[in-house]
Amino acid sequence: MFLGGVPPESDKPAGIWYSAAMNSTTPWTAARLRGLKGREKIVSLTAYDFATARLLDESGVHLVLVGDSLGMTVLGYENTLPVTMLDMLHHTAAVARGVRHALVVADMPFMSYQISIPHALANAARFLKVGAHAVKIEGGELRVPLIRALVENGIPVLGHIGLTPQSVQEFGGYKVQGRTPAAVAALLRDARAIAKAGVFAIVVEGVPPAVAGKITAAVKVPTIGIGAGPQCDGQVLVIHDLLGLGGDWKPKFVKRYAELGVAAQAAIAAFKRDVAAGTFPGPEHCY
Ligand code: KIV
Repeated sequence: MFLGGVPPESDKPAGIWYSAAMNSTTPWTAARLRGLKGREKIVSLTAYDFATARLLDESGVHLVLVGDSLGMTVLGYENTLPVTMLDMLHHTAAVARGVRHALVVADMPFMSYQISIPHALANAARFLKVGAHAVKIEGGELRVPLIRALVENGIPVLGHIGLTPQSVQEFGGYKVQGRTPAAVAALLRDARAIAKAGVFAIVVEGVPPAVAGKITAAVKVPTIGIGAGPQCDGQVLVIHDLLGLGGDWKPKFVKRYAELGVAAQAAIAAFKRDVAAGTFPGPEHCY
């Protein structure tokens, strides 16, 4: 288990993304992550609790995103719209307690940043006060004044364009974006505008790979793709999807690296059998 410092060879999890930079004990900052463009792929996953955050941090993940996907993965909502500031603050604080090296980014929930710039600044500051290092906001050109205000006030911002889930009602579902030349041009305008306004990186979600490639080439900051193909400067996934904890449905862009849901069901069934048969607890579990 890597608890800080340079992990010995034997402690490096096989197949996980170690590099000279990742072995560094220096915590990741928004500025350092921005500097990875063209040098090293950015690895990001979501976390909503202390234990998962610690696992990600110990595995060398660069950026831990406390996504508002919390609404579906943990709170059981149908989409991200009901998620509140209090939900996000509670889970961001737990994640921050589990992270020593990664950059912790808190997703600003629906209507916490759209009402006015002072309202958004006050909300964003609350995330930094509970341990986040940066915030994520959805949207393109429209968000330029807000991004400028956040960055000027010392709050690093991760942008998010393409299939932005807080616009699910406007999109009429989770539909791939950037399907027409006009839509691609708008995405490129959005990416350039928010990069110029000061985001340190941009999540690009739900667009064809060639479109993500164009966006990636058009901006100096790294792009982090989800459902956007391999041409981005990094990738992010929802941890529940990666671990097989999200139920049976699997979106096309997800690769399941484990089936923990199936394993958990088997373990719970075995416990139930043991309790019913009186074989748990055994003598070795008794004081
Ligand atoms: O809420 C979320 O998890 C996200 C993604 C980019 C993974 O916004």
